[in-house]
Amino acid sequence: MPGACPACGYKTPTGVENKRNPKEWQLSAQKKAANAYLVGNSLTPSGRAFSNTFETYVAKTPEEKKALAFAHEKVDTLVDQPPAHVYFTGPAGSGKTHLATAILLDYIVRRNYLAKALYVDWGKLSTMYSGRFNLQPDVQTYLTRLMDGMQTCDLLLLDDFGAEVYNGTTTKAPVDLANTIFNSRVDKNLIITTNLTGEMIKEAYTQRIVSRMNAHVSGNAMLFAGIRDHRATA
Ligand SMILES: Nc1ncnc2c1ncn2[C@@H]1O[C@H](COP(=O)(O)OP(=O)(O)OP(=O)(O)O)[C@@H](O)[C@H]1O
Ligand SMILES: [Mg+2]
Repeated sequence: MPGACPACGYKTPTGVENKRNPKEWQLSAQKKAANAYLVGNSLTPSGRAFSNTFETYVAKTPEEKKALAFAHEKVDTLVDQPPAHVYFTGPAGSGKTHLATAILLDYIVRRNYLAKALYVDWGKLSTMYSGRFNLQPDVQTYLTRLMDGMQTCDLLLLDDFGAEVYNGTTTKAPVDLANTIFNSRVDKNLIITTNLTGEMIKEAYTQRIVSRMNAHVSGNAMLFAGIRDHRATA
């Protein structure tokens, strides 16, 4: 049925209305669903979280070029050799979150939008989880859905893991949370960014958690050393 404009009566000539083929329609539907899942379920620190792409990353120094190349390579690993645990550690403002998010977004594209991926800000999550018995019913429902998604999705980005650690320690709720999540992700794709060293994670969360985090980390860890703090003024 050709398209018609109810206002002016113009009718699209028969035969030219169906320019997009079924494959394009399907891809467009998959894209919509993948984005709706990501945006609708992710727990982000700000609405700008998904502007961190490979296109917006500027690699000027050799260290930044190395980090960018490593991040591109890790998309291949996550797509072609799952499960992989990609681990970015290093100082504040060095681009860990930026490149981790870029990997997540590119992974979805490379999986033809058929993969479910989630971005979760650990600081926000651990605060929500610690107060889980006093949440508003709608937030409680969201947390239950998020917990389920984090344990089952194809790729989980846990951003700023250990953000709540203070003076080398944390509390019971984040340790329980980490246990639940890392247990469920042992054989699933995971990206972790953190300011903590392995020793600090062991100290705050126990060796049991480090062991699960490290399950598929060999060749997938990067220390963001020698990169300036991009938040500080130049
Ligand atoms: N090479 C880069 N090109 C463009 N923008 C960058 C680059 N590196 C970092 N940024 C920007 O600088 C800001 C800080 O980077 P990012 O959030 O990735 O740091 P981080 O290493 O995750 O820091 P933190 O440990 O505090 O979480 C972000 O707005 C990010 O988009
Ligand atoms: Mg960060």
